[in-house]
Amino acid sequence: MKLNIALLAGDGIGPEVIDQAVKVSDAIAKKFNHEINWAPALTGAAAIDAVGEPYPDETHEVCANSDAVLFGAIGHPRFDNDPSAKVRPEQGLLKMRQKLELFANVRPTFTFPSLIDKSPLKRDRIEGTDLIILRELTGGVYFGERGRKDNGDTAFDTMTYQRFEIERLARKGFEMALKRGKKLCCVDKANVLEASRLWRETVQALEKEYPDVEVSYEFVDAVAMRLIQWPKGYDVIITANLFGDILTDEASVISGSMGLMPSSSLGSEVSLYEPIHGSYPQAAGKDIANPLATVLSAAMMFEDFNLKEEAEAIRAVVNKSLAEGVVTEDLADGGKAYKTSEVGDWLAENL
Ligand code: IPM
Ligand code: MN
Repeated sequence: MKLNIALLAGDGIGPEVIDQAVKVSDAIAKKFNHEINWAPALTGAAAIDAVGEPYPDETHEVCANSDAVLFGAIGHPRFDNDPSAKVRPEQGLLKMRQKLELFANVRPTFTFPSLIDKSPLKRDRIEGTDLIILRELTGGVYFGERGRKDNGDTAFDTMTYQRFEIERLARKGFEMALKRGKKLCCVDKANVLEASRLWRETVQALEKEYPDVEVSYEFVDAVAMRLIQWPKGYDVIITANLFGDILTDEASVISGSMGLMPSSSLGSEVSLYEPIHGSYPQAAGKDIANPLATVLSAAMMFEDFNLKEEAEAIRAVVNKSLAEGVVTEDLADGGKAYKTSEVGDWLAENL
């Protein structure tokens, strides 16, 4: 297969972890006779510095004309502490999601056999966890009307959802559930929010089209609690943008390290693959960040191209590196801490 992949390294540890995913993907391509053409492009603070804009049109062109986008991370502390900054790296991420219509963010949560005891949660609670949080990504309060009034003393952001936005996400959720545990949970705040009531109404209307899927409805505050009490109770969760943002950070604790969790963002034309961790500026340039979330994101990419064996091979070698202790300092636990680049080399060699 010939693949054209846009490569958006971004900020902080982005370039370092992306390098390892490229190494591993190239090794896979060699082994399975594929050809990958990487098309690097600028995003985030790096793009602001170069061209004054976090998601330049040229970058969008590259992404829109690729088969997929592999993405590192975005964000820089220089902007976080400056509320008056007019352009921020994160705007690039939001613009990219919107322009590429990446409406469904797939964030799986699973455990690694060799890491179960690294989780702050008890083994019997989390062993065997295998759930997906499907987060709506191009609507809701992230993109609703916002502003200031009363001379700037009142600020508002609005959660707005259209039926079609909920429906296309919910359909993805139902289809995923059918291929997995056949359970779908719609997570909302329908006891308070009108937008959430539209979510329920829309999902309820779809139920009869998917009779094999068992559907439940839960409030987000209760799910925040149950998710870490009994994650095995969930299969596919569908939820709004902001709720999904919060719940997926929470869920990453189950796996033992945020440095491990991959994600995909599915669009109508092109999809994007990225680790769920951020740019981790404190570690930037030190060659210490955990590259596995990005490597596993590349595995999700191969899987979506229907290259299942390739995806499986990546997951297997990642598990092997964890079992053999070829890990970065976040997982070293007193043992040897490998460099980011060493982990990447090891994975590529051991495929
Ligand atoms: C994420 C991040 C982003 C979000 C930020 C960086 C804008 O937290 O991808 O989860 O809130 O969506
Ligand atoms: Mn987040």
